[in-house]
Amino acid sequence: MDAVGAVIIMFAGLWLFLPAMLPNSAAVVFGGGTPVDFGRSIGGKRILGDGKTWRGFFGGGLAGVVLGMILMGIAYLLGKEDIWGYGGLWGGIGIIVCLSFGSLLGDMLGSFIKRRMGIERGKKAPILDQYDFLIGAFLLTALFYPRWVYDTYIEIPGWHILALVFLLIITLLLHRAMNIIGYKAGLKDVPW
Ligand code: CTP
Ligand code: MG
Repeated sequence: MDAVGAVIIMFAGLWLFLPAMLPNSAAVVFGGGTPVDFGRSIGGKRILGDGKTWRGFFGGGLAGVVLGMILMGIAYLLGKEDIWGYGGLWGGIGIIVCLSFGSLLGDMLGSFIKRRMGIERGKKAPILDQYDFLIGAFLLTALFYPRWVYDTYIEIPGWHILALVFLLIITLLLHRAMNIIGYKAGLKDVPW
């Protein structure tokens, strides 16, 4: 494994994970309206809270799927489907759907846990806020496409684990940057 190979593994892993990274930002834009939990509570605490809406879920999810299709198209046009693509067409679409909707399911699971802990909507929960989407995306994708997840983000002798480490670091930095941008753009009340 040379340095160039390591950099390609890391950036390919990031590129292929973009359909999981867009949905939560897109949900801020598309969100609003009926909450996923329809306003219901258990034990006096909201199931998910007003920050998780059906429009955010489907709008964000479709945005991620569309982005993934564009990425597939680019890899195809460049003839680089081996590294920058998801494999075959239908498998690729399946992976993209899992990444995109898995990230939103993870985000909802994060909110579910926050509510159970008594943390109100929009209040901070370190680690959970940053990584809930990533865990959801990996779990759902690994459920249906374990081989792809292993080959792309784990395979130790080939150093694919570097892609996962890179993702974990980039996610922290991006989360911070996006929150500051959202705050400055007036989409969020607090810069975190
Ligand atoms: N959003 C949405 N539907 C989703 C996810 C997000 O409508 N499924 C929108 C909401 O307007 C939400 C915003 O995106 O307020 C930011 O998402 P997030 O930070 O995940 O929600 P919070 O409001 O911080 O709520 P929570 O404490 O539950 O994370
Ligand atoms: Mg939040």
